[in-house]
Formats: sequence, C-alpha cells, structure tokens
Amino acid sequence: MQKIHQKIQDWYQNHGRLDLPWRITTNPYHIYLSEVMLQQTQVKTVLERYYFLFLEKFPTLQALGGAPLDDVLKMWEGLGYYNRAKNLHKSATLIDKLPQSIEELIKLPGIGKNTAHAVAAFAFKQSVPVMEANVKRILCRLHKLKTPNEKQLWEIAYHLVDKENPFDYNQAMMDIGATICSPKNPKCNICPLADICKGKDEPALYPAKKKRVVPTRKQNILIHIYDDKLSLSQREGKFLHGLWGFESIETAPCAAESIGEVTHTYTHFKLLCNVYVYYETAPEKADYFSIEEIQELAISKVDEKIVNLFKDQSR
Ligand code: ADE
Repeated sequence: MQKIHQKIQDWYQNHGRLDLPWRITTNPYHIYLSEVMLQQTQVKTVLERYYFLFLEKFPTLQALGGAPLDDVLKMWEGLGYYNRAKNLHKSATLIDKLPQSIEELIKLPGIGKNTAHAVAAFAFKQSVPVMEANVKRILCRLHKLKTPNEKQLWEIAYHLVDKENPFDYNQAMMDIGATICSPKNPKCNICPLADICKGKDEPALYPAKKKRVVPTRKQNILIHIYDDKLSLSQREGKFLHGLWGFESIETAPCAAESIGEVTHTYTHFKLLCNVYVYYETAPEKADYFSIEEIQELAISKVDEKIVNLFKDQSR
C-alpha cells in the first residue's frame, strides 16, 4: 500500500491542480463553500464565475449568516441546485464556526456524508477518505464492481486512504478521477493506481452504466405585461423556492399570444415550457419589472431562457 500511496503522491506533485484556491487555504469556511459549489458543478465554472465573487460578497461565515437569503441566491444564480445555497445560508445562521467531527458536520443542513468527509479531510486534516463521483469510479474499477452499494464503497475508500497525507491523497484521487480514470477512454497506461487495478483491462465495464430516461414535464408560462414591464413573483413552493419567476398556468387565456417554447434539463426531468404573453390594460399582478430590473433579481436558468425568448421576439 505504501508503494501505491507514494505513486499517488508523486503523481499529484507532478500533475495535480496544486494551485486551486481551496487547496491553498486553511480557512474551513472557504473549503466548505468550495465543496458545496463543486457538487454537480465543474471546477472551471466555479473558478470563473462563483467562488471568488461569493467570497468577496460574503467573506466570512458570519457575513453569510447575516445576509438576506435573496442576496445569497443572487450570487448563486446560474449555478443551479438552489437548495445548496439555501442550506449553506441556513448553516451559516446556525453556527459561528464549522465543527470538526464528521458526526457534527453531517447534522448541518445540506451536508451529506461526502461533503462532511471532504471538510474533515481538507479543513481539519483528518485521515478520512473523500468519495465524490470521480473517486467512486476509480474504486469501482480497482475492484471490478459493476453495481456497488455505498457501504461497500466507503469500506474500500477507508481501506485505501493514505493516513500519512490524507489531504494530498484525496485531492489527488479527485484529479486522477477527473483526468485519468475518466468515464470514456481512461488513460490506464499512465495511471498511478494501475498496479493494483483489477479492472484496467476493461475499465468501461465498471461501474455499469445506468440507463436513465428522464420524463418530460410540460408547463404553460404566462408573461403578464403592463406598461412595458413584465410580471414576476417570488416562488414559494419547494422547487426553486425564493427565486423570482414567471407565472405557470393550466391553460393560456384566449387573449394571450404564444411566443415559442424553451426547454431545460434538470437531473430528474426535462421541462418544456410553452411561453405566452398577455398585454394588460390595467395591472393585475403585484410586481412588474423592466428587462434591466430583471437582471438584478435572482431567477432560474429556465426563467432566464424565457426572458431571452421574450427579448428575441420583441426586437
Ligand atoms: N470536487 C469536489 N471537491 C473538489 C476539490 N476539492 N477539488 C476539485 N474538485 C472537487
């Protein structure tokens, strides 16, 4: 095992992304933020558009906890999975500083087993493994697992972790998963784990691909327009809660005019929106915004697409 750990550490020093901002800080809040942002989002996007701007606006956990949720959602706009932002904000209102134990970390809203392990390993230098999607793929291939369960994977991960240098080991595993042990055409010939990898002859078999067909949900969207301004309201339901959005309706009124459709794919379904506009002669809704004012609101990707469709057709 020592030999493999050495290979992983050497690989990381030569090829790892050593300069990522959350890898050169010891600030637990910064590390926690990065881990939440990196769930389901690529490093490039987080670096270019979110991490630094978010920290500029909310430099400490206290600043985040004291800020209105609307401001937090605005900084999260476009990153998706808005519950992550809400949970982050909620956690910041609950604590002054992050707890160190995995047990306590998991109790915070939005922190699952992997994020708790990542914060423990990266912020508090504990010798525990991290297991995001890329690392899971490595573990499956190492042991030729087609349909592993979580318990099995955590056992393997705990067995494999380098207890001498868990920080670099875990960061390395994520980089190896992202760049070497990729889903397609993995580069087994240059992989530092090749010596112990049982699946390297047929890596594509592990893990077995899940065939997922996502259902399509249809929605009619009605944009009320009064005095050249568009009506949006703040969402209250569980989905996209807190974001501003257009009205969804059963059937469009006769006086409404269809302007086209937009689609957006979420993890579990595809949304197809037929978009209608309705010009009012007297205001029927509570809030109306100009296109410029809408830029200042936190809105979802779908509503952004709807605004763009509206702008295109009114040119
Ligand atoms: N994905 C999740 N955590 C990460 C990290 N610390 N570095 C790069 N990608 C990640």
